[in-house]
Amino acid sequence: MANQITRQEFLTKTAMASAALLVSSLEGWANVTENKKLKVAIIGCGSVSGSYIPKLLTSDVIQIVSLCDIKYDRALERNKTFKVNAKTYHNIDEMLKGEPFDMMITLTDMQVHEGLNRKAIMAGKHVWSEKPMANSYKAGKELLDLARSKKLRLWGAPAVVNSPQFEFMSKKIQSGELGKISSAHGQYGHTGPTWSAFFYEKGGGSMPDLGVYNMASLTGLLGPAKSVMAMLSIVTPERTVDDKGKIKVEAEDNAHLLLEHDNNVISHVMCGFNFYDRFGHQAKDQRLHSIQIYGSEGNMRLIGYDWETNGVAIDSVKTNGEEQLLCTDKGGYEWREGAKVVGESMLKGIEPRINVEHALHVLEIIEAARKSQETGTRIKLKSKFPWPMVGS
Ligand SMILES: NC(=O)c1ccc[n+]([C@@H]2O[C@H](COP(=O)([O-])OP(=O)(O)OC[C@H]3O[C@@H](n4cnc5c(N)ncnc54)[C@H](O)[C@@H]3O)[C@@H](O)[C@H]2O)c1
Repeated sequence: MANQITRQEFLTKTAMASAALLVSSLEGWANVTENKKLKVAIIGCGSVSGSYIPKLLTSDVIQIVSLCDIKYDRALERNKTFKVNAKTYHNIDEMLKGEPFDMMITLTDMQVHEGLNRKAIMAGKHVWSEKPMANSYKAGKELLDLARSKKLRLWGAPAVVNSPQFEFMSKKIQSGELGKISSAHGQYGHTGPTWSAFFYEKGGGSMPDLGVYNMASLTGLLGPAKSVMAMLSIVTPERTVDDKGKIKVEAEDNAHLLLEHDNNVISHVMCGFNFYDRFGHQAKDQRLHSIQIYGSEGNMRLIGYDWETNGVAIDSVKTNGEEQLLCTDKGGYEWREGAKVVGESMLKGIEPRINVEHALHVLEIIEAARKSQETGTRIKLKSKFPWPMVGS
């Protein structure tokens, strides 16, 4: 009961803080005309930028004004291939002094997100960051505090909570159709990226690259985790990657985490860079049940990955044990939509479902899993986020 009151207070406080922040972050746009566009700058023009740029170009209200990469030819190539007509830069300092913009979109190697995000916030920019937004929970929280002190918004991938399937599953759990929820499982893996070494270097790994999606889904559905236990390992100690040739793998490429949620619910996440996947990186036709929820009166399975959702299967007392395939329509949801959705939400003055405290919570889980592996102990978490994320 005491816990419930605390959470209720927390929800009220954070909801009010978020709304106040959104209003204050838009104060500078008090004279917004109908033609006001959100100017964005992309830093990191590698693999994922090839998904982000075309998605952002579909927005009527977002304009990509700058592209930046320390491998400058990549910025030039993206500008040309997608006919962006942006200014191009060799590094963040040049970009921050160049064409004015409102929000930076950080798509670089994971380990440098934190420093780049800090520079952008210091320069008065809103930030959407690919995961992770920082290298530790503490640093991520400091970034958020810094952003708030400057009336800026900070956002972190992934955007799995935006999918209609996430919403559907959350409502099903809240409706009680599955009875008392006790356990859940999430999994995501493939044989690992081949193009860049950072995925395997310290601060990389399969948790911030892949497991992060399941952690966001499971905490989003079941509520914040209170503690974490994990076993992590390196199964393939050497890899050959495009940018650096043969490298030593320093970050876990195989991870199992147990998360303790409220009401004695336990969930499990399994991720790795050594999983054969017959559907490869695209996952369009993937039928694997990547998220599974178990209750006393029914079970629910997300078909496909939480970033590439293909439907939800339910069998319950209510369905007489028959499996029903439901919510098969993505409703336009795409994993690469995060920066576009938050950018448009800011312009429209509405608060999107995706929430930075949730991204920070997932970052704390990843860090706790590393600590649990190092110490062989269960690690308590302190962060929370507004939950439930979907109204019932
Ligand atoms: N590739 C995908 O399909 C995918 C999907 C979802 C999320 N992500 C995430 O996106 C991020 C980038 O992944 P990627 O696959 O595009 O990597 P990538 O190696 O293909 O691209 C990263 C780019 O960032 C540039 N870069 C590095 N440091 C920089 C700096 N200080 N300033 C400017 N540019 C810098 C690199 O030169 C490179 O071009 C990661 O966080 C990853 O987890 C990738």
